[in-house]
Amino acid sequence: MEIISNPTQVEIKKAAQALKDGHLVAFPTETVYGLGADATNEGAVGRIYSVKARPADHPLIVHISSINQLSKWAIDIPEYAIKLARKFWPGPITFIVKRSDLAKNFVTGGQDSVGLRVPSHRIAVSLLTEFEKLGGAGIAAPSANRFGAVSATTAKAVGEDLGDYLSVQDIVLDDQGCEIGVESTILDCTTPTPRILRPGAVTISNIETLVPTNFDSLGLVSNRKISGNSENHYSPKAKVVLNRLATAGEGFLAFSDIPTPKGAIRLSSPDTLEEYARDLYKTFRLADEKKLQILVVIPPNGQGLAVAIRNRLSKAEDK
Ligand code: TXA
Ligand code: MG
Repeated sequence: MEIISNPTQVEIKKAAQALKDGHLVAFPTETVYGLGADATNEGAVGRIYSVKARPADHPLIVHISSINQLSKWAIDIPEYAIKLARKFWPGPITFIVKRSDLAKNFVTGGQDSVGLRVPSHRIAVSLLTEFEKLGGAGIAAPSANRFGAVSATTAKAVGEDLGDYLSVQDIVLDDQGCEIGVESTILDCTTPTPRILRPGAVTISNIETLVPTNFDSLGLVSNRKISGNSENHYSPKAKVVLNRLATAGEGFLAFSDIPTPKGAIRLSSPDTLEEYARDLYKTFRLADEKKLQILVVIPPNGQGLAVAIRNRLSKAEDK
């Protein structure tokens, strides 16, 4: 594995060529790091599954450079999805749409739909653009972590998690961390009105202002194959415990206005929801670096990004 810091255009071209040659490239997006492969190359996509130890029936998101690539990968795209894509792409939202013939079973986990996203991170955009110049159609990329573990928001975390499983020709592009810090909103667009499968930085009210929905209070459904829906996902090794006072020696994460209980180890004190989201997985990793047994978290209240944060916390919670 080669780690390239602050990649130049020439280095990004080299990474695009590596993808074209069937190697893996981990790259930053505005949400979390992705572990990328040529989405049309069965062998390369297969390596994503083995490097992550991810079950083969969990579908991957295909990343594309712009909305113009949407019709390559999808058919029967509802009008409301196009309206939302025009508004929120490039950005932290993934649309689940009916797949075209280009989206094979090995990338969709055998489903007749495909997840598509146009990321906005500078490095992701230029990697996608260079890859498409070489004739590539899209980059399949799950979060760059072992299955079930905490998503990586730095190249260092990618190296620590996946370094042992990547091969010498695979590349990790290292750039400023991920601005948002939690994974994209996933919106199922295979039904007459959209359904949120995973909340993210594009919020319920963002969506509702543009298109009619029949979301419940969280807008959530969970009857689809979506890896975040399995128990104990996004979990650090430390036990995550919610909503109680931390005692001496336990890690503690809460908004800055909540004082640190006596003897607890304060790992993060975000001032805003944005900071909370950005710090969340870093805090999980820090708890493990410090070999803490227990991480006590006071989740944020309210709507918007708070919904996504509470969703990840409830998956990570020790049950
Ligand atoms: O922010 C993100 O979405 C990041 C960055 C790298 O783009 N990617 C990411 O990928 O979080 P991953 O694989 O860790 O999570 C994607 C989720 C999975 O839980 C998968 O099951 C779901 O999207 N998904 C993908 N395609 C789907 C489909 N056709 N139907 C239902 N769920 C799908
Ligand atoms: Mg993931």
